[in-house]
Amino acid sequence: MDTKAFVKQIKARNRASNAYVFVSVMSGVGTTLLTVLLVHLLFAGELTRERIWQIGAGITVLQISKAVFNAVGIRQAHRAAYKSLTDLRLGIIGHLKKLPLGFFQKRMAGDLANIVSHDVEQIEVYLAHTQPEIIATTLAAAVIAALMLVVDWRLALCLLVPVAVSLMLLALLFKLWGGLLARYNRATKEMAENLMEYTATIPMLKAFSKSERKGDALIAYIKSYVKAMRRMILGVSAPQGVVTTVLQSGVFLVILCGIYLLPGGSLSVTRFILCLVLSVAFAAAMLKYMSYEHAGILLDRSAGNIMSVMGEEAVGEPGCAVLENGDIVFENVSFGYDGRECVLKNVSVTFRKGETAAIVGASGSGKSTMANLIMGFWKADSGRVAIGGKSVADAGEKDLTKIISIVQQESFLFNTSIADNIAIGRQGASREDIAEAAKRACIHDMISGLPDGYDTVVGEGGAKLSGGEKQCVAIARVMLKNAPVIILDEATASVDPESEHLIQEAITNMSRGKTLIVIAHRLSAIRGADQIIVMDGGGVTASGKHETLIENCPLYAEMSAAQEAVDTWEIRSESDHGEGV
Ligand SMILES: Nc1ncnc2c1ncn2[C@@H]1O[C@H](COP(=O)(O)OP(=O)(O)OP(=O)(O)O)[C@@H](O)[C@H]1O
Ligand SMILES: [Mg+2]
Repeated sequence: MDTKAFVKQIKARNRASNAYVFVSVMSGVGTTLLTVLLVHLLFAGELTRERIWQIGAGITVLQISKAVFNAVGIRQAHRAAYKSLTDLRLGIIGHLKKLPLGFFQKRMAGDLANIVSHDVEQIEVYLAHTQPEIIATTLAAAVIAALMLVVDWRLALCLLVPVAVSLMLLALLFKLWGGLLARYNRATKEMAENLMEYTATIPMLKAFSKSERKGDALIAYIKSYVKAMRRMILGVSAPQGVVTTVLQSGVFLVILCGIYLLPGGSLSVTRFILCLVLSVAFAAAMLKYMSYEHAGILLDRSAGNIMSVMGEEAVGEPGCAVLENGDIVFENVSFGYDGRECVLKNVSVTFRKGETAAIVGASGSGKSTMANLIMGFWKADSGRVAIGGKSVADAGEKDLTKIISIVQQESFLFNTSIADNIAIGRQGASREDIAEAAKRACIHDMISGLPDGYDTVVGEGGAKLSGGEKQCVAIARVMLKNAPVIILDEATASVDPESEHLIQEAITNMSRGKTLIVIAHRLSAIRGADQIIVMDGGGVTASGKHETLIENCPLYAEMSAAQEAVDTWEIRSESDHGEGV
């Protein structure tokens, strides 16, 4: 759906409210007509007590109808607005979950947060307030203009000529407002993006004493936002004053023309009074309409921003391919993040079901990228990644996560209790199950020692836990989930050696009969794997068992020797210098 169709769909949500507003406006016009009838009868000397009562009763009924239908219309508009607000926010958040990770590299978190809060809010404002007002004012103006034409076409022309001039002025203003709003929109987006980045990276900024420079940059963005907003307010309100004056001149033209026509007898006093009342009401409606006119541009911009997310193609809609556990096969897979340089080059490898495989290689050789492709986080540019014969690219997120568990290189925890963070692995897990998983991940004692135990809230991203503790919680999650495929990407890199040993034992026990893929720099940890895959510069250099690779793969032999050197490496005191480290 394009932005135009989306805006149309939004506007259509107020259909019921528009009907109520229509009745309310017509009741208002009826009141005006009855008032003029009263004046006419007075001048004609036909005003009887009985007529006064009848017309009075009519005006009362119409006024009540105007108020009631207006209230019902506004209520209905608010209902539609808040329903849209909820639907849109849930829709955007639901859609974001389905988008490829590449999308989140292009768009910053602050920009997306701004769309979910600010732009969706604009839709609510339009539906609840602006649209009912625009409908009411344009309808009232149209009915009044039609009545004026019937009553006296000459006075009607006096009223309508300035309207035509104002509409032409407005068409010019739209171009100016479009530019101003685009600048305002850009400034809002940049401020939101930078504000979010600044608050999220304060510890880093402090560590590198960059906070001042970043703070200055943020202030510059805030200033440019204020400037853009001030320009927009000025740009909208100042020309609006000119348009208002032109519009109001219509009433004076009606008065002048009426005074000119009255002595000739071609215009009766009653008609003149009727025209005066109608032209004042017309000008009031048009002025109100003008104050809302730029809201249409705001709506278009916000709708465009929302569509920039909703219009992105989702990946792996659930249910396209039902996965079953089986061999994980890379068939001639090539991949580059965001279509850039190839990170994986023509990789063909099989991780056999129920076996333990290890991926080793230098930093940046593409190990985590392989894990990302198995998890379906990214799609292969060419070739295919398949599980049990079905392509991962066609599988839904739920399907994939049911089969695979992963502990990533950088574990992420939610800002909730430790128990909840572990229970993400299995919905509805009991406290005993959670504690059992934590014990196997060597984190139970540490958690039990906390004042709130398993109910301790871990802070944003797990900020209140150490790197090793976070990894242990992530491992406990995987233990609890007990999926048939487990990927460990440097899962125990930050854990102390004693715990690492215990965790590795627990993982070995847990992973019996499961497919286990271990990514590790410490080769001693993966020596016993059924298959070791050696990565180099995005390609598979060799694969096989440890003993075979030591003999046949010079790169692996080199890595193994380097590992041994690291294992025996020690820091010597000053006096030892000269003998080497
Ligand atoms: N999200 C990303 N966007 C763009 N490039 C990326 C992204 N993630 C990784 N890369 C690039 O892809 C290459 C492979 O990265 P990958 O994370 O797979 O390496 P790795 O073998 O896991 O390294 P390490 O051992 O340091 O974890 C690197 O050159 C890296 O710069
Ligand atoms: Mg990695």
